[in-house]
Amino acid sequence: MKNEKLVRKIVSSFKPYQGEISPDELAKRLGVSIEDILPLHANENLFIEKDWIIERVREAVSTLDFRLYPDPETLEAREAIAEHFGIQSSETVIGNGSDEILDILTKAFIDPGCETIILEPTFSVYRFCTIILNGKPQSVLLNEDFTPNVDAVLKAVTKKTRIIILCSPNNPTGNQYPKEDVKRIVEESGCIVAVDEAYVDFADYTLVEWINEYDNLIVLRSFSKSFGIAGLRIGFAATNSTLADIIRKMVVPYNVNKLAQRMVPVLIENWDYLSKKISEIKKEREFLYSQLNKNENLKPYPSQANFLLVRVVKPNYTAKSLQTKLLDKRILVRDRSELPLLNNCLRITLGPRPLNQRLLKCIKEIFSEDKK
Ligand SMILES: Cc1ncc(COP(=O)(O)O)c(C=O)c1O
Repeated sequence: MKNEKLVRKIVSSFKPYQGEISPDELAKRLGVSIEDILPLHANENLFIEKDWIIERVREAVSTLDFRLYPDPETLEAREAIAEHFGIQSSETVIGNGSDEILDILTKAFIDPGCETIILEPTFSVYRFCTIILNGKPQSVLLNEDFTPNVDAVLKAVTKKTRIIILCSPNNPTGNQYPKEDVKRIVEESGCIVAVDEAYVDFADYTLVEWINEYDNLIVLRSFSKSFGIAGLRIGFAATNSTLADIIRKMVVPYNVNKLAQRMVPVLIENWDYLSKKISEIKKEREFLYSQLNKNENLKPYPSQANFLLVRVVKPNYTAKSLQTKLLDKRILVRDRSELPLLNNCLRITLGPRPLNQRLLKCIKEIFSEDKK
């Protein structure tokens, strides 16, 4: 009781981030091996072979001395990123996943009572990072077609607004925002604009090249999706060196471990292989979209990411019940129905063809069993 009294007020009332049941827990619950679980709930990259990553990790590990702390400046990784993305290493900040970049970015700009504008429905961590600092997330709803309502975003800006966070392509709707919309927000808002491009390698354009045109633009990137190392945790911010220096002040010492730092140049050297996998993902996206679209009970949305948003349109049927039945068949997908505009929507990560075939077969079985 005494300790509870010492907890910050915001922490006592805080609802922590809630994902789906983990693959390990589901395997335990169903009494099956983890290998039998199809993890289509977290937008990881299932196209890169597990053994290929293990080989790259072996290469990286053999050169490292883990008795020593990692480089607090993350120089090798920053230089590799700078060269690959055509920017300067002074224009990068590396984090323990792009989640950490969001955490330090908000720490750098949000005083208590300050506002973050968030375009909903979107990735929940933006709200999380703002609230925990006693900041105030201001939601602006996307249009029905999931494009940003730019006028509403600009209207929502107040004296207290510090950051506008745009997720493009957006998780969970999958669409990349029109360049012109982002440009207007960057040019007219007068705020820091953070564009989260975690899924951009599956889309049409990146804004990294804009970082020197605008002094208020920060682009966030992740190594968890196109680079396939969600389990090793690497993300970065690309921005002008003045903002990069400010954000870097918020990093705790040694935030990125040695192995993750070394994996950055190792993976960048293998970009040809990774970009082939990106092409496969894009092809598979068309396949899964067209197959799901043939099912009268489902409405998939076009996507520029490595997942599809799918609405369950069967009368008297919910996304939750389809999700639960898929769980029984050892397939994990994410229910996004509680978010605005997303009633009865599931988010499904793209997998290689055999996995998608298994998903399609299970969905078919579920709907035909329900007819009986
Ligand atoms: C939009 C978006 N941004 C950031 C992240 C976090 O990425 P990371 O694994 O680099 O922390 C995710 C993870 O799914 C995401 O969907």
